[in-house]
Amino acid sequence: MAPKQHVDFYRKVAIRKALLTKAIVGPAYIPFIGDGDVADALYRDRTIDGADLDPERVATAKGRGFTGEIRQGDCDEYPFADVKEAFAVADFDSYAYPYAAFRTFWAKAEKSDPFVCFFTDGERQAIKRSGAYRHPSGDSTDVSTIVERRKAYNFYWKQIVEPWFQEYVKPWHVLATRFYLRRDMLYWGAVVSREEGAVEVEAEPKREHVKKFNQKRRKVYLQALRDGMRRTAAAQAAGVDFVTVWHAMKDDPEFAEAVDDAEVEACDPIETALYDAAQSGNVPAIQTWLYGRSKGRWKPPNVKTEISGPGGGPIEHNDVGATDEARIDRIMAIVERARARGDRSPTGDDPANI
Ligand SMILES: C[S@@+](CC[C@H](N)C(=O)[O-])C[C@H]1O[C@@H](n2cnc3c(N)ncnc32)[C@H](O)[C@@H]1O
Repeated sequence: MAPKQHVDFYRKVAIRKALLTKAIVGPAYIPFIGDGDVADALYRDRTIDGADLDPERVATAKGRGFTGEIRQGDCDEYPFADVKEAFAVADFDSYAYPYAAFRTFWAKAEKSDPFVCFFTDGERQAIKRSGAYRHPSGDSTDVSTIVERRKAYNFYWKQIVEPWFQEYVKPWHVLATRFYLRRDMLYWGAVVSREEGAVEVEAEPKREHVKKFNQKRRKVYLQALRDGMRRTAAAQAAGVDFVTVWHAMKDDPEFAEAVDDAEVEACDPIETALYDAAQSGNVPAIQTWLYGRSKGRWKPPNVKTEISGPGGGPIEHNDVGATDEARIDRIMAIVERARARGDRSPTGDDPANI
């Protein structure tokens, strides 16, 4: 089965719309054009030179009747080297690694000034899974320790992609960027020019409930976690709801890291109490301590337990995720899908604010 074309279509379009206000009239280069959904939503008013490896998707995109040419080809090799007209926009909506296509494009294509480009990047998944990932430069990178991996994952945009891009496009200057991190995906775009300076790109209005979660409330939330509360209870203590906290963690990796640290800190007094109980001869405490902390020298015996549902039948379950985080991710995925469909609540509210 072919992979899904879009996970966060709404987000892809929102980032693009903001920066496209700075693009001048002119053709768009659309590698990874797929079925042409992004091209259809955003570039209909331009000549579109697009390409994709998949012949069926090329046929679908051609059927959309864009002005321009759709070719079957490997975008990492830039299939439009014969085109001499300058592109005003390029949109690298790949599954995971858009940078090989960008590098060949940048080396071979004519660009308008200013030039606007977009990227869909899934390399954070590789960082999370193994620590081995492809840097935007093309170099293979391996971040082996957990601490390095976490840093590379959390600061992927700020410390890896953005600095690379600033250097790579020189002597062009980066005038504006927009990015959005969701799960392992990074969506971003930039306006670049041969002239120095900055351009104002209208900020997406911050959702009211995110604004409400100010520094003071974040402190209360983190302290509540350190005191051992679960995330939903800590949110209540800080006077916000879990959706607000979820957005804050997605928007701000440093805050997300502080949340993790606070939860680890909450374990400290329990560990001390467990250790004291073990020292005083409490056998379950001794076992728990040794199984957890002896680096494999002590292991729990293999216990096999069979569990069944009513009358020995299968267990009925409705899995909504084991942790608060997993549940919230699933709820937010439903909200994003509703948004992408343009659903409104009966009151006309954005579904994320309900
Ligand atoms: C995320 S989808 C693109 C969705 C598309 N932008 C749209 O709006 O419908 C990624 C596309 O990249 C194509 N692809 C993957 N590697 C490629 C490559 N090296 N050259 C060209 N196309 C490639 C896939 O066939 C797939 O259609």
